[in-house]
Amino acid sequence: MGLAKPIDQYTQTEAAAAAQELRQTLAEYSEAYYTKDAPVVEDHVYDELYRDLETLEAAFPIIVTNDSPTQKVGDQVLPGFKKVTHEVPMLSMGDVFSEEELATFDNRLQKNVEHAIEYNVELKIDGLAIDLIYEKGQFVRGATRGNGTIGEDITQNLKTIKAIPQTLTKPVSIEVRGECYMPKASFAALNEKREAEGQPPFANPRNAAAGSLRQLDAKIAAERNLSAFMYTIVTFDDVQATTQYEALEVLAELGFNVNPTAEVCHNMTEVKTFIERYQATRDDLEYGIDGVVLKVNDLALQRQLGNTVKVPRWEIAYKFPPEEAATIVRDIEWTIGRTGVVTPTAVMDPVQLAGTTVARASLHNADMLRDKDVRLLDTVLLHKAGDIIPEISQVVLAKRPADSQPYVIPTECPSCGHELVHLDEEVALRCINPMCPAQVKEQLTHFASRNAMNIDGLGPRIIAQLLDQGLVHDVADLYRLTADQLAQLDKFKEKSINNLLNAIEASRQNSLERLLFGLGIRHVGAKAARLLAEHFLTMEALMASDQEEIMSVDTIGETIADSLATYFADDQVQTLIRELAEVQVNLTYTGVTKAQAENSDSYFNGKTVVLTGKLSQYTRGELKQQLEDNGAKVTGSVSKKTDILIAGEDAGSKLTKAQALEIPIINEADLDSYLAQ
Ligand code: IVH
Repeated sequence: MGLAKPIDQYTQTEAAAAAQELRQTLAEYSEAYYTKDAPVVEDHVYDELYRDLETLEAAFPIIVTNDSPTQKVGDQVLPGFKKVTHEVPMLSMGDVFSEEELATFDNRLQKNVEHAIEYNVELKIDGLAIDLIYEKGQFVRGATRGNGTIGEDITQNLKTIKAIPQTLTKPVSIEVRGECYMPKASFAALNEKREAEGQPPFANPRNAAAGSLRQLDAKIAAERNLSAFMYTIVTFDDVQATTQYEALEVLAELGFNVNPTAEVCHNMTEVKTFIERYQATRDDLEYGIDGVVLKVNDLALQRQLGNTVKVPRWEIAYKFPPEEAATIVRDIEWTIGRTGVVTPTAVMDPVQLAGTTVARASLHNADMLRDKDVRLLDTVLLHKAGDIIPEISQVVLAKRPADSQPYVIPTECPSCGHELVHLDEEVALRCINPMCPAQVKEQLTHFASRNAMNIDGLGPRIIAQLLDQGLVHDVADLYRLTADQLAQLDKFKEKSINNLLNAIEASRQNSLERLLFGLGIRHVGAKAARLLAEHFLTMEALMASDQEEIMSVDTIGETIADSLATYFADDQVQTLIRELAEVQVNLTYTGVTKAQAENSDSYFNGKTVVLTGKLSQYTRGELKQQLEDNGAKVTGSVSKKTDILIAGEDAGSKLTKAQALEIPIINEADLDSYLAQ
């Protein structure tokens, strides 16, 4: 990042072009951050590009456009919420990234003021700004900042937050602002839950808080364990405070949650001490902070200094540099995935980084490893991508040992010794030996997994032992296992032996699509497997079919057809299928065919159904399948075309919408009787 060359070497045309490109990139990042609550880059990357744009626009004011992010306050208003207008606009805040810039800010203010300026210094909480209105001591309205003038009415969601009082200690009318945030512990727990449910994790607490407040269903916000600190009095008839520090005291007296760390600083040395203290201890706080905020303490002086179009002149945010930690690379491990992709991971001396101990970081692929030129015994700087995933930012070349040699990327598979190749244009290195033990282990794990053959109790640990002891070599061998053999496994007693044998036995009867998916054929996911099984009905028919017929199946294209052709042309694959038949694994489709579903006399036949909320008796996939077997079409969003909404627990916006459209709603508890109809 940074501009391509010094600013004084730009022509106006070049500057205009560079600025336009930056605006486009910034708009994309901003959209991801604000509207989708899912940032695609770290904050500091955005900040640096923004500054580049500012530099260009400052040097060539004529290139500034109205839609430039430098001319707007930010955020966006989402549809779905009632809009509110902020009588007093919610401005944003200027920011600086170094102590020199902070000194410049102070000097500029100090020039216009006779006495030494006092600052109230506060932590910059990593959440999102909210605005609260109380009438006669009662909470009546809460809103997001939105675009600064128009925000979203999120009163119902804010009412679920304990730190926001419903009733103040005095019956006063007041408008206040502050920060709503998700405590780190809640954030970690929420992401764990989301990952377990197959939902994407939130990138950071700020996005998690924003995502929670933007739920149309207040029940979801309530579950999310949010909190809030208030820091600004906007309008208050009975203001007794003359300084920002006193304003915080007034807020606390009225019953608001106020961050206790604020301090009045009398000079920049005190400010620096404050910054250093919290930079060092930020990981110990139970909420995330991304800097500190300096506010001119004297409220009269604040008014006198006033605002620019965008930001108050009397306050500034000092943003912490991105959290980094240095450590030493001890090893580079290569793991082999199910499809043979070989991925490098740096193994390092453990270090503390943004609250966790980090000892491993993925290097993604051989090209990245080569580009970063990471070598054994190199000192590297780590950061957390999206605040969570440890990544190597760069090698500290000054600390590279004198006798260091470039890391030699393996040309042979670390597991089986087979030559590694780049397929097509792939960046990934692959081991293409189908008998590679590391791949076989991953394949067996996939074969046994829930959406494939669903063999309960056959996880990676057991599979590793079965392979090590030579008890299985491929998936067909699983069906030849005996109780005596399983007894050789570590801590395997009668009960576990029986359970596993029963689970394996039961899987023999699975319908063809599970086997097709379980075989791990490139590009054939669970959905394609099901379509293929439904169409061809037997493995034999599928193997005998030609490309054309495969591509005639709904949504199946050339990539899948090619992949199947390559797969079934392989001698080893043909042997494996024969063996599976020998061990009596079912090779036919036993589910309901499309034609049968269409003729079903089920209640659901021909209806368009949407699922929402948490289901307890079914997984979503199972229920969807069952409904489709009954002739229903299952879609993702509620519209006028929806015939039925099936609502599990904690259903949110889809439920609200279905109610508004008067679409019949079936609760999960009543589902069985409908399915039986
Ligand atoms: S005062 C609505 N004080 O930082 C503007 N802001 O980068 C209020 N923030 O939009 C500015 N902690 O969401 C202020 N102690 C604090 C803050 C704080 C966090 C946020 C706020 C603002 C953003 C600007």
